[in-house]
Amino acid sequence: MAIKTIRDLDLKGKRVLLRAEFNVPLKDGKILDDTRMRAALPTIRYLADHGARVLILTHLGRPKGKPAPEYSVQPLSKHLAELLGTDVAFAGDCGGPASQSLAGALKDGQVALLENTRFYPGEEKNDPEFVKTLAALGDVYVNDAFGAAHRAHASTEGVAHQLPAAAGLLMEKEIQVLKDSLDHPEKPFVVMMGGSKVSDKVGVIENLSKKADCMLFGGAMANTLLAAKGYKVGISKIEDDKLELCRQMLQRMETSGAEVVLPVDVVAADRFAADAAPQTVKADQIPDGCMALDIGPETVRLFEGKLAEAKTVFWNGPLGVYEFDAFAKGSNAIALAMGNSGAKTIVGGGDAVAAVEKAGVADRIYHISTGGGATLEMMEGRVLPGIEVLLKQ
Ligand code: 3PG
Repeated sequence: MAIKTIRDLDLKGKRVLLRAEFNVPLKDGKILDDTRMRAALPTIRYLADHGARVLILTHLGRPKGKPAPEYSVQPLSKHLAELLGTDVAFAGDCGGPASQSLAGALKDGQVALLENTRFYPGEEKNDPEFVKTLAALGDVYVNDAFGAAHRAHASTEGVAHQLPAAAGLLMEKEIQVLKDSLDHPEKPFVVMMGGSKVSDKVGVIENLSKKADCMLFGGAMANTLLAAKGYKVGISKIEDDKLELCRQMLQRMETSGAEVVLPVDVVAADRFAADAAPQTVKADQIPDGCMALDIGPETVRLFEGKLAEAKTVFWNGPLGVYEFDAFAKGSNAIALAMGNSGAKTIVGGGDAVAAVEKAGVADRIYHISTGGGATLEMMEGRVLPGIEVLLKQ
């Protein structure tokens, strides 16, 4: 995928509108996880070091087109200043008088953050007027917001039609790694999927099973697959209305040649609670009043064996109820196995990323994707609008 990047731009003295993905978890003004901000630092530093005047755009949460103090990105400007070790100016609007005067006042190498793009209804509507307002702030547009590239919004797609546009370093890396693992995975290619709903991930499972040698399933989605195979799953959380779909999907996966591996044992309990008593049972013997809440130790060993043989691994979604310690053991053990693997390991999606971080192996993972929905859509084989527009440049 040939894409223009910031290395192809003349940046000196230019006002660069940088769309970043700073949609981070925030509670009472405190940032709970700044991974996405850290991931954008190389691009911001590159732009500033090359004399650009950097105006950063981001959304935060879903304020539905209206200003809301709890979604203000002002706390992020302070944190960004700490991470960069330099001042970061803040404009209390995005496209209004405050950002216009800041865009005019910035000097070469200076950085500013504008207020949440989603405080404006024109953002999500990709409204041409809002696009024009944003474009007027810059000379050049850079998109580094891979995590929002599946959204065709004004700041992620529209502006790229109005200004010379290029990808940031994070965007470039995400595209390269994910496309490469999809198009030319080093074999064996093992895909490990977890999380609650199989219905959210049908497209990605179908696409990946055409490329993978082995598909491992855990989490609640595996319960639905087990039920589709006719196993009794007690009171496990399953998607009843998706059983037929799962049956067909399992059949298609078999014909595609990918080995499908479902849990052989699970950690079950009689209720969905952190303090519920865990018991390990065979996957085909889940007691009537019990629900599967994690993969069992035998399954962990089975998955570890597949990971040990792999040359490329893609992992998305937790393998158990990750928020409860008693049912996070499967995800934690697998996170460690990912860290110890010699394969090209790629992890995408909040809980799987949290698991590798908690296991202390994040720095041994080949690539931790900053995308949630964007990563899945990419692995589904879709062309994301925020990327497509950059390809046309
Ligand atoms: C994400 O966190 O996945 C992106 O920032 C997109 O957010 P959205 O689902 O609210 O569009």
